[in-house]
Amino acid sequence: MNREDFPMLKKDIIYLDNGATTFKPQSVIDAIVDYYSNYCANAHRGDYDISYHVDEAYESAREKVRNFIHAKEKEEIVFTSGDTESLNLVVRGFFENIIEKEDEILITQSEHASNVLPWFRLAQKYGCKVNYIPLDDNHYVTLENVKKAVTPKTKIIALAFITNVIGDIRPIKEICEFAHQHNIFVVVDGAQSVAHRKTDVEDLDVDFLTFSAHKMCGPTGVGVLYGKRALMEQVEPLNMGGGMNESFDSVDEVHLSELPTRLEAGTPNIAGVIGLGAAIDYLTKIGMEEISAYEIKLRRYLIDKLIDIPHLDIINLESDSGIVALNVEGIFSQDVAYYLNKYNICVRAGSHCAKILKKEVGVTNTCRISLYFYNTEEEIDALVDLLRDKEKILKEML
Ligand code: ALA
Repeated sequence: MNREDFPMLKKDIIYLDNGATTFKPQSVIDAIVDYYSNYCANAHRGDYDISYHVDEAYESAREKVRNFIHAKEKEEIVFTSGDTESLNLVVRGFFENIIEKEDEILITQSEHASNVLPWFRLAQKYGCKVNYIPLDDNHYVTLENVKKAVTPKTKIIALAFITNVIGDIRPIKEICEFAHQHNIFVVVDGAQSVAHRKTDVEDLDVDFLTFSAHKMCGPTGVGVLYGKRALMEQVEPLNMGGGMNESFDSVDEVHLSELPTRLEAGTPNIAGVIGLGAAIDYLTKIGMEEISAYEIKLRRYLIDKLIDIPHLDIINLESDSGIVALNVEGIFSQDVAYYLNKYNICVRAGSHCAKILKKEVGVTNTCRISLYFYNTEEEIDALVDLLRDKEKILKEML
């Protein structure tokens, strides 16, 4: 779908590593070049025409994000450097102020580093506990297992909407409903989901949602923290500096700006934010329902072909996202990736930053194929043909 829009797809490669980052359509590249070429100025600081143009483009990108995830107010949308910074901001800027020693945080063993390590640090610093929601036989989160894992001490549930190796789609709406009945906050890491399916924070009722632009056709170095207004009002800035204060005279007289700029100290990633706005325009034009339906179809096509290959161990046969993790029996995952690279096929191999997942699935490393709407059945055929011949892999892998 829409392959002609992507300069990278004109190269002789088959790109199946969209979980790591996605390619950028020309319209996103053009929006960034346009900013640098035609109205390059700082944001929120100038009193001249091009700076007004920047403010308009920057704030209209915020409005696009608000609309894209169906947040109520633009004050609920804060730009960060990416999903990782968004999660760190919510942990350090919000939860550090309310966490107590007795509190428990629930995550799963299939979260990636950004949704594990900030919680580990919180636990180390404040003596609270990180516990794991048990996963079912398919390594999925079920509402039943969430209910079993919650105790009177649970304060936070932090989950990826879609995980980056298992690719399971979590029942976030049901989890939020249950959690809120028990006064538990829900933080959702949308890094692998926002680009692939429609997101409605109001309907889901999540407390916080984080994601990165670069996994959704946007540029690197920019991300979003969404939080409900009442909670965002309590988030303390991680950074102090220009653009986030109204006035300061002395240590005792510092007046910070209102949301959302209060949490965006310093010159922001203006080009990145404008690029994210263009990415949202692009995805919206295709339609998120269209994108997820296509990915599901493509995944089924891939699985139907892989399932007949006896030397493949597919880790996540059942999940409904465009992520398929597998191993070729007896061959190290990185060797498989090197072999595929010889044929210009890009996949990711290793632990994929989900380093405690090995306790759950019993293998440390996998080869991950992660699809997006611009991948095709022909590309999958080429991949499957190469994986089918184990002798050839063994002969050519190094
Ligand atoms: N978290 C990214 C991935 O899954 C980098 O590949």
